[in-house]
Amino acid sequence: MTQANTAADGDTSPAQKLEVIFAPEEISARLEVLAGEIAALRLDGLLVVAILKGSFVFAADLIRALHRTGLSPEVDFITLSSYRKSTTSSGQVEILRDLDLDVSRRNVLIVDDVLDSGRTLAFAKDLLAARGARSVTTCVLLEKRTRRAVNVAADFRAFECPEVFVVGYGMDVAHRFRELPFVGRVVTG
Ligand code: IMP
Ligand code: MG
Repeated sequence: MTQANTAADGDTSPAQKLEVIFAPEEISARLEVLAGEIAALRLDGLLVVAILKGSFVFAADLIRALHRTGLSPEVDFITLSSYRKSTTSSGQVEILRDLDLDVSRRNVLIVDDVLDSGRTLAFAKDLLAARGARSVTTCVLLEKRTRRAVNVAADFRAFECPEVFVVGYGMDVAHRFRELPFVGRVVTG
């Protein structure tokens, strides 16, 4: 596996390396396939709702892959926070910043980075359904299988994810690593 040193910005923390889990080429190839599958649903007037912050890079690439299939989705954002201590999700989901658009009678595609406990995705699905969306379809970049606390499944997922805390491609730990073009994990030592 490729490794990249993270100390280039002058960080003085102990040597950290990044291990690549999903490389940029693998991600983009997978997104083309997913976009084709989503387009095949023929959801008219599609509204993409990206859950911030973690999904912003994924959503940016996915909407352009959707464009290549001929779709012209509208896009909106909602910032959700699932309270978490360190890297473990602890329960409640809160809206930090709401959508601008009215979702009633719209075909909505929710886009999120990681499906883990399921609380975030379940919350978003319930919220948009309660606001009168015509249909709610979900697409996640990564699915972790073992820690589900809520019975929710994603309609589409790019990859199954190992049970490690991942960073990059929009995802962070303590606000770092969102800029990385790959999904990886931090290895200390
Ligand atoms: P859930 O509500 O437990 O399913 O958690 C999902 C949210 O937690 C995702 O939207 C991510 O923002 C975050 N999350 C879960 N696992 C990871 C990870 O490995 N890296 C970065 N964020 C994660
Ligand atoms: Mg997230």
